Amino acid sequence: MQTPLPSAAVHVARRTRLAAMLGNGVAIVPTAPERIRNRDAHYPYRFDSYFYYLTGFREPEAVLVLIGGVTPQSVLFCREKNAEREIWDGYRYGPEAACATFGFDAAHPVEELDARMPDLLADRLAVHAHLGADAAWDARVLGWINAVRGRARSGVAAPQEIRDVHAPLDEMRLIKDEHELTLMRQAGEISGAAHRRAMQATRPGATEYEIEAMLQHEFRRCGAQAPAYTPIVAGGANACVLHYIDNSAPLSDGDLLLIDAGCELDGYASDITRTFPVNGRFSGPQRAVYELVLAAQVAAIAAVRPGVCWNEPHDAAVKTLAQGFIDLGLLQGALDGVLEQESYRQFYMHRTGHWLGLDVHDAGEYKIGGVWRELHPGMVLTVEPGCYIRPAPGVPEAFANIGVRIEDDVLVTAQGHEILSASAPKDVTDIEALMRAARD
Ligand code: GLY
Ligand code: MN
Ligand code: MN
Repeated sequence: MQTPLPSAAVHVARRTRLAAMLGNGVAIVPTAPERIRNRDAHYPYRFDSYFYYLTGFREPEAVLVLIGGVTPQSVLFCREKNAEREIWDGYRYGPEAACATFGFDAAHPVEELDARMPDLLADRLAVHAHLGADAAWDARVLGWINAVRGRARSGVAAPQEIRDVHAPLDEMRLIKDEHELTLMRQAGEISGAAHRRAMQATRPGATEYEIEAMLQHEFRRCGAQAPAYTPIVAGGANACVLHYIDNSAPLSDGDLLLIDAGCELDGYASDITRTFPVNGRFSGPQRAVYELVLAAQVAAIAAVRPGVCWNEPHDAAVKTLAQGFIDLGLLQGALDGVLEQESYRQFYMHRTGHWLGLDVHDAGEYKIGGVWRELHPGMVLTVEPGCYIRPAPGVPEAFANIGVRIEDDVLVTAQGHEILSASAPKDVTDIEALMRAARD
């Protein structure tokens, strides 16, 4: 018997919690399929976040079946050992070693799933599965239920309800445990180091892709497996394209560089944006816009604490930005009118954050019964206000094409909050000092 992984206890505890919510039901959670890029070349494999949250198991072609009730049981279906395939693709646990290492009660070859599921669903009240995302999966789950219905005359009852297994898991994933927070702190450190390195290396004449490569190198050098999302490395006017991922342009003296990049470490995302001058010194207009966005971010982060509603950090950021847009001459009129008519949206058109965890835009509802939910210790959110000034009538020339976003990852704590991405500098003096030191 193999030694269980240290994290197996964490995943066993999560399965036990979910099983307690199932009553006499059965949860079925598959991992993600492998995806072909072209012919026999695959995209890099990434497991399903719900499956991984419950198992810690990273191989494709696996399904967790969790049986609730008085004797809960967790059953893994996974690939069998295969000497030939392991020559080509590497080690596979196989059911026996997976069972021992990851703490399941039983494990079977994934080829046996269709044959075994009707037995596992017999006399169960509900199936907890996520339907609607993949028609083939939906048909398979319904096929298992129909197979149980087909046994009615032998006295077997089929499940009467199908419930979305993501709903309880979303709530569980929203409050991070210590295991998750340890990884998220490390991910924040690694990404912070990558942003610092990018600031130190950026010069006029360098290219966006060169800086992107440096970020990726730092992620991997520090042990992170991948970027948590495609990095945005956007010089000058490219920063005003919110989802710019070409990262193909040269960096010009006098422009700003906006970098939105974070690594994924053992499944957990970080998500950091910093904006800094390509030549190491903010111009007057750049600094004015930057200081405004920073003030909005500081105001929003100050609003992060237990008991406040999800929307309060956003409202704090919007209020600061809207007043700033008026003060800079970007908008006319009084603050009340700008807020009411939402004319600030010309320069700030996205929301101020999202949940962060296994997914960069992580699981969890933002409203409960139509009301913004309250923040609680263990939640992690991003705080990422910005200002994107496209040339337009009435926009002072000096501000045209300036795009700034500042994004941190913030944990709600009992006392208030903890910034997980604090190692990436964001004060003007700190950024300029770091860049100056790298040039000396
Ligand atoms: N990097 C994705 C986001 O900031 O939401
Ligand atoms: Mn974000
Ligand atoms: Mn981001």
